[in-house]
Parts: sequence; structure tokens; C-alpha cells
Amino acid sequence: MINYKEEIAKVLAEQVEGLELAEIMDMVEVPQDSKMGDYAFPCFKLAKVLRKAPPLIAKGIAAGIADCELFEKVEQVNAYVNMFISKEGFVKDTLEEVISKGDDFGKSDLGENKPVIVEYSSPNIAKPFHIGHIRSTVIGNSLYKIYDALGYDVIRINHLGDYGTQFGKMICAYRHWGNKEDVINDPIKTLLDYYTKFHVEAETHPELEDEAREIFAKLEKGEPEEVELWQWFRDESLKEFTKVYDMLGITFDSYNGESFYSDKMPRFVNELKEKGLLEESQGAQVVNLEDAGLGVALITKSDGSTLYITRDIAAAVYRKETYDFYKNIYVVASQQNLHFQQWFEILKRMGYEYAKDCVHVPFGLVSLAEGTMSTRHGRVVFLEDVLNKAVEKTREIIAEKSQGSDDVDVEEVSKAVGIGAVVFQELSNNRIKDYTFDWNKVLNFDGETGPYVQYTHARCASVLRKAGDDIVAAAANGVDCKYLCSESAYELAKLIHKFPAVIVDAGEKYEPSIVTRHIVDMAQAFNRFYHDEHILVDDVNEKTAKVALVMAAKNAIKNGLALLGMKAPERM
Ligand code: ARG
Repeated sequence: MINYKEEIAKVLAEQVEGLELAEIMDMVEVPQDSKMGDYAFPCFKLAKVLRKAPPLIAKGIAAGIADCELFEKVEQVNAYVNMFISKEGFVKDTLEEVISKGDDFGKSDLGENKPVIVEYSSPNIAKPFHIGHIRSTVIGNSLYKIYDALGYDVIRINHLGDYGTQFGKMICAYRHWGNKEDVINDPIKTLLDYYTKFHVEAETHPELEDEAREIFAKLEKGEPEEVELWQWFRDESLKEFTKVYDMLGITFDSYNGESFYSDKMPRFVNELKEKGLLEESQGAQVVNLEDAGLGVALITKSDGSTLYITRDIAAAVYRKETYDFYKNIYVVASQQNLHFQQWFEILKRMGYEYAKDCVHVPFGLVSLAEGTMSTRHGRVVFLEDVLNKAVEKTREIIAEKSQGSDDVDVEEVSKAVGIGAVVFQELSNNRIKDYTFDWNKVLNFDGETGPYVQYTHARCASVLRKAGDDIVAAAANGVDCKYLCSESAYELAKLIHKFPAVIVDAGEKYEPSIVTRHIVDMAQAFNRFYHDEHILVDDVNEKTAKVALVMAAKNAIKNGLALLGMKAPERM
């Protein structure tokens, strides 16, 4: 696609002396109000060098570039040169790119296959995968897709919380009150119950705590019986988690969680000692980070067992040694900000320069609008239930909308739209913001929602079906873009043109909601075009041109949804 900023900068460079091309490119702006042009060039900066008033300079430049074929119109307004791109050329360039690239439209090779790790989801074994976990899962999956589209080689890691003293408690509880069948039937709930029961019982029977500690010590030493139970709990939990991942269409390259690092600890504890970073504090080993305002980080407890933070340090080094990452991204709730700041700082003090390539991508909390959800599991809201409920609710809406039409695969579409609605909602807000989950908002077909965007995509598909194969084939072979210069057509083309740059921006900011917002903008622009204009007109050339724009819009929306991890049904 034509890089308009660059082309404009080249044209401007012929008019202004003393500025580098890159500098000019930086100065070219996109005005908020498109009435001020598609691009604008402010001349304030030039006043000093040229010793002339900025409006005068702007006037001279405007006159100098007026005849360039890139532009339809050039105006001087105060200190600005306002440039209006020749619409026909712009739309033509955009359509050719989108239609020829298809699924690849938006992708780039910016990343040069550099390895990037995205760590996300990372639930805790034997604990519920609840609505709060969806954020890490969905944001992480989208960041993976975004970095993949930018040409990085992405490694997806699920750093399972599968280690720690709680497993001693769980095994202890299982031995006292457990039952194999219950664990198999409903692993997470059952294991959680054991854990709760343990705490209740331990209040009156404190010796249970010692027993649990011993069991954990055995687990750490690799005693077969304890390891077998732990492994079984882990497998059963993972089976449950996988149900949710399958519903979301999410996979990982590695499930190496905390337990994977349990035998790699001594190296780091020794290293910290050798590098003079460890201090003793009441029998425990700590790294004092007070001078950096980060408090004190506990590395080993007084009984010698290691902690969450120690395993994170080990994991980062392991990842560098295994994948030689260019970036190591952690999608983890903002409650853990201090944890990440602490161990990034420790890694740095250990002399690992790649500490700077470790990135914590935090996100805010989800809460539930009261009364909107109930769950058979009691107080915690399970993600699986939320997704099932979304599919169920969508099935009702779709069945009503499609009114028994045989063309719509209600089951398939309900899944794509119901689950998509939850995902889209997750990725709509700036990730750091706390938000409230509300069914009415999530499933609203008219709001800025997943269903609305998917519906718009299906509408595009329907227009193409009505146009027929011949017109669609002709549209792919180049059209006369003079029919696509209306305001609504041009605004739609502009948003489509911007899509690849939006992906770059979202990647740089680790912010999928930038893509989400843009998809909504494209969908709204399409619907404006659809309402303003008659698309399937009698004139074949005009019809073919408009169909080409519909194809491009459909393709861009579909590729956008794919970056969020969503499907784009052809019919709804
Ligand atoms: N299992 C942790 C939790 O649920 C999240 C793990 C985050 N990742 C990490 N490398 N510390 O809170």
C-alpha cells in the first residue's frame, strides 16, 4: 500500500529546505476533523529558519504542491497546509491491497521472526478458573495473535500455578476425607473443598499443619506416592481448564508452570548469595530492595522452601536460555505489579541485561453486575458457566432473528457469537480499567459489541451473495474507483487503509482494545455506507466497484476479529 505520509513528505521536501525527510514525516499530521484535510503540515517550526511568518510559509508550500497528483485539493489555513488526498487513487490502492492479500491483509514482517514469549492465563491447579482469569487468557491470546501478525515468532506459555505448600494440604485432606470418584467427576470443585475443609479442621487440629508440611517436603524430595497424587490433581485440573480453552479456541506451546522450576532453585539461591544480594532475615533469605522503593523480597522461607518470586526468576532465565527471547511478556493482573517490579529489579541486579526485555502487561479487575449471574457452584463464577450461558442466551436471540431460516446453523453461530461476545467485551476496554460484567451490554446486537460487529460482517457476506459470483469475481479484478468517492465510501476506505497501522500501534502498547475500537469504527463506517448508498445498482460498473468495497470491508473486519480470537460467521 502507498505510504501516504512518506509520499507527502517527499513532495514537501522539495518545497522546504533544511529539514530531513524523516523530520518532515514526523511533522505531517492527520487532522481530527477531516474537513481540514486528510493530512496537514504545520509550518510553525519553519518560521525561525526561513524568517517568515508561518501563514506565509504555508501559503508558499501550498501553491508549490497544488499540482501534485497525490492531491485532490491543497489549502492554506493559517499556519497549516491542508492536503486532501485524491480519493480515487487512495481507494484504488486500498482495495487492491486488501483484496489481493485476503487473510494476510494487516500482517507485516516488522518482527523479522524475532522470538517473543507471551505468558498468559496461568491459572492455579485445583482452584477455579473463574471470571477473573478470563482477562489474562483473552488479552494474552489476542497479544499472541497481534505479535504473530507483526511477524514475530511467538511462544505461548501457560505458567501454571502447580506448586507450593497448598499441595501438601490438599494431599493431606485427600488422605483423610477424600474420594477418588469425586475428584474424577468434578476435580476443581472437589479439590477446592478439600482445601477449605483442611483449613477448617486445622483450626481445631493444628497437628494437621505439620502433617501437610511433611507431605509437601516429601513432594519436594520426589517421593513417588506424593508425586503421583500431585500429578493426578494436576492432570485432572488441566482437563477442566482445557474445556474452557477449547471453547475459546486457545492453545499453548508450553504448560511449564511453577513446578517445572522447583528443581532449578538452588542455582539461583546460590547465585544471589554469590552476587551479594541475599540477606538473612529471621531465618529467611531476602533481597532488600528498599533503596529502589520496592520493599523486601522473600526468596526462601526459614524452612528452606522457595517461593513464587524465586520460581519467576528461574523461569525468566530458563526462557532466555531456551528461547533467546527478544521480549518476554507477562499478562498478569495489576494486583501483582509489585511482585513483577521486585523480580525484574532482582534480575537486573543479578546482571542479566535482558531484565529490560521482560514486560509486565497488567490489567484491572472484573466485577459482576449484581444479580445478573448465578452459578450452580455457589459464590465463585466459573468461566465455563459464563461461556455456556452466553451461548444459550445467544441461541435464543439468533433463533428469533433467523426465524427458522434453514441457512443459519444456529448451533455453530450461537457458539461463535456467544463466546465471541464475552471475548469482545473483555477486549473493548482499555485493559488497565476495572470493569463490570453485564449481560445486557455484552449481548446487545446494536451496541458496540461483538454481536454487532459479527452481524455487520454477515451483512457484508449477504450483500456479496446477492451480488452473485460473477460480480464478486469481477470486483476482485480491479474496479473503477470513481464510484467510491462519496463521503461514506471514502471514510470506510480510510479506516480499512489504517488497519495495518492500528495493529502496529496495538502491539507497541500491548493493548488489544485498540484493535477492538478500530473494528467497531470500521463496522459503523460500513453500516453508514450501506444505509447511505444503494450498492446493488443496475449499472454494472458502479455495482462492481461498490461490491469491491464491501469485500474489502468484510475482509478487514474478519481479520480484525481473528486478532481478538473471534470467528466471523457468514450468516447470522
Ligand atoms: N498463577 C498465578 C495466579 O493465578 C499467576 C501467574 C502469573 N505468572 C507469573 N509468571 N508469575 O495468580
